[in-house]
Amino acid sequence: MSIHGKTFVTKAKHMLHGGDYNPDQWLDRPDILADDLHLMKLSHTNTFSVGIFAWSTLEPEEGVYHFEWLDDIFENIHKIGGNIILATPSGARPAWLSQKYPEVLRVDENRVKQLHGGRHNHCFTSEVYRKKTQQINRLLAERYGNHPALLMWHISNEYSGECHCEKCQEAFRDWLKSTYNNDLDALNKAWWTSFWSHTYTEWSQIESPSPIGEKGVHGLNLDWRRFVTDQTISFFENEIVPLKELTPEIPITTNFMADTSDLIPFQALDYSKFAKHLDVISWDAYPAWHNDWESTADLAMKVGFINDLYRSLKQQPFLLMESTPSKVNWHDVNKAKRPGMHLLSSMQMIAHGSDSILYFQWRKSRGSSEKFHGAVVDHDNSPNNRVFQDVTEVGETLEKLAPVVGTNRTSEVAILFDWENHWALGDAQGFGMKSKRYPQTLQQHYRTFWERDIPVDVITKEQNFSAYRLLIVPMLYLANEETVARLKSYVANGGTLVMTYISGIVNEYDLTYTGGWPKDFQDIFGMRPLETDTLYPSDRNYVTYQDKTYPIKDYATIIDLESAQAEGLYKEDFYAKLPAVTSHSYKGGKAYYIGARLDDEFHRDFYSRLMTDLSLTSVLLVNHGPGVSVQARRDTVTDYVFVMNFTEEKQTVTIQSEVQDLVTKENVPAEFTLKPYEVKILVHSKSNK
Ligand code: GAL
Repeated sequence: MSIHGKTFVTKAKHMLHGGDYNPDQWLDRPDILADDLHLMKLSHTNTFSVGIFAWSTLEPEEGVYHFEWLDDIFENIHKIGGNIILATPSGARPAWLSQKYPEVLRVDENRVKQLHGGRHNHCFTSEVYRKKTQQINRLLAERYGNHPALLMWHISNEYSGECHCEKCQEAFRDWLKSTYNNDLDALNKAWWTSFWSHTYTEWSQIESPSPIGEKGVHGLNLDWRRFVTDQTISFFENEIVPLKELTPEIPITTNFMADTSDLIPFQALDYSKFAKHLDVISWDAYPAWHNDWESTADLAMKVGFINDLYRSLKQQPFLLMESTPSKVNWHDVNKAKRPGMHLLSSMQMIAHGSDSILYFQWRKSRGSSEKFHGAVVDHDNSPNNRVFQDVTEVGETLEKLAPVVGTNRTSEVAILFDWENHWALGDAQGFGMKSKRYPQTLQQHYRTFWERDIPVDVITKEQNFSAYRLLIVPMLYLANEETVARLKSYVANGGTLVMTYISGIVNEYDLTYTGGWPKDFQDIFGMRPLETDTLYPSDRNYVTYQDKTYPIKDYATIIDLESAQAEGLYKEDFYAKLPAVTSHSYKGGKAYYIGARLDDEFHRDFYSRLMTDLSLTSVLLVNHGPGVSVQARRDTVTDYVFVMNFTEEKQTVTIQSEVQDLVTKENVPAEFTLKPYEVKILVHSKSNK
């Protein structure tokens, strides 16, 4: 249903607040289960993901089912007006299942069969596991499909990993046969197997990549990763058969992740493919707030980036499925959120398109590895602590944000991220082995827009380019012919394209283009990259651009300028005075090439010119100092503008338009101060100036 251009991703018309709830750990404590209901109301939470790891409670012996406890949970949550996100339990198996059907256990890349234990570690090909998961999912759908508290399906948990067992090898070979039309010769050519005498003469000789076998055939690596994504999706599709059949109205999601080290997109699965199979995108965000290696604002920028990627996968609101109300237990140092940070970090998720704040987890467990992981309810079982009160504050605020539910963001700027490119670049031996840093490079380009409050979509290669005035494509090393052609027509039709060093080098098989740079790129950029020089950290070189000099690092492309214009020149080395940055008009549009890895200041200056040329602006003009982020959600009549202070100091903000504070409903003065970590949510009606 669409009202004022809103897209409601679930039947709820309010913000979801709550999280993973594991009553199955407390069934012998009815007092605790009763306390939960009381504390849920008190904390203004309304949505609970149940059953994620409950298989051994649901089916303690093969074919023996216990649903009564879950019936009670449904009833009780419904009574307090709450929603349930019901999980399928495949993320972890009961011991009896592994014991009786060892084929469900994974084999790792060293070909070592794993023991029972842990989670997220089943074979995706195993017929037994597929059958067993479908069986239990069907029972869940039959029993709870019509329950009014059921809001959504949460399929498994954080799908990840790969299995190298014989069944998976066979499935991989079948996948290859269908991909290469049963033509082994075509596969050999695509994988360049004549190198090191790696030619296959039988399909059965092909094995998944392994440190004890083949790792150096890049085409094999790339296809294996594609297969792992497809096989994971195929497992997921098998899980949802009974759900789609019995509960077609109930939306389906699975929780995506980030690679946590640097809060970059999760690498192992191509989420752009997975997204097509989901009704709603949801993801688990665990930024290391208050860490000692980056400023709060730097981290906030990265959170913004990844949200804008996951939101753009479906161009609709998404859900924050997990986050911590305080600390996690798995960072090297697990720091508590400072006062103000919980509300601020939660509102940032909403600002970028989330319609929920959900936590891992509702209540801290008493034992095992997550007993110290942050939760709404601590071991004290009390509402009288800082974390519970922070959660309550978020709950109260979210209740006032109901009008924001379903609104989206609009952007005239897009940055392109591609999972296959990420994989291929990771394999590429050459350039700098450690300095490629593809997602971090995208974040660097994103930063300038984040600092200037200009909304950005982070899109993937199959999405519509023509919706954007500016498209930024850093390090698109793997650019298949279709993408090259689409970029060309984007520029021809009036788009402005920015591309960087190490782009357009290999095709979809990870085979280099022969005869130089793709001809279509030469046409649009009016130049040819000839060589990429790689710099040591101690090397010094500079680019002069618009009378200013900027240091470069890591990469410098030597360019043969044809019809393009040199915008920036190298200062040192044998390519001194040669072009480093170029521009070229092509038909209706313009294409810029940035040949060297430049610093933030360059990006600020470079993009500032483009912002002016293309009249790119923020949704609402708000003046503020560095570290304040302004992000907006909008429908056809109203803008909801989140002004967020990601610094440890007070910040003065000025604003020219007439706006109201969404929480207090008061008019906001033209100048106001934000305390450290403070957030204000402003309502700007589009009929007002
Ligand atoms: C997530 C996982 C949860 C919990 C959480 C702890 O990755 O889905 O089950 O383990 O991490 O941060």
